[in-house]
Amino acid sequence: MENTQKLFELACSCRLNAYTPYSHFKVGAALLSGNHKFFCGCNVENASYPCGTCAEAGAISAMAAAGETKILEILIVADTPQILPCGNCLQKILEFGDDNTLVHSADLNGSIKTFRLYDLIPHFFKAGDIKNAD
Ligand code: THU
Repeated sequence: MENTQKLFELACSCRLNAYTPYSHFKVGAALLSGNHKFFCGCNVENASYPCGTCAEAGAISAMAAAGETKILEILIVADTPQILPCGNCLQKILEFGDDNTLVHSADLNGSIKTFRLYDLIPHFFKAGDIKNAD
């Protein structure tokens, strides 16, 4: 619970920096990595719409840049009753998650719903499906 609260606070403060001149929909994400470090990200849009990046992607990039390769928990917050990662972000989370990884969905009031990653996407493409993957 303490971790979840810290994730919420981090995601909320990062969300304030979201760059959203097109959608005006600000999203914040924060994650707890395998070595118990916290990372956060926000969505960054672009005049060429598909170039925009989601909040989760920002948090995952920060984690990878720090040499971390495991996501224990990730929290997403937006001004909506229940935000869940888009399909693209679920795939990104899967890369560093496992069947214990938790995904928390928060609204701005701090109401938090928790899901297991594998319940959100029970069937998926993974490294093991590629013949020569590490
Ligand atoms: N967005 C995220 O940051 N994360 C998600 O999981 C869903 C969508 C952003 C992308 C875009 O900047 C805005 O929300 C509207 O789609």
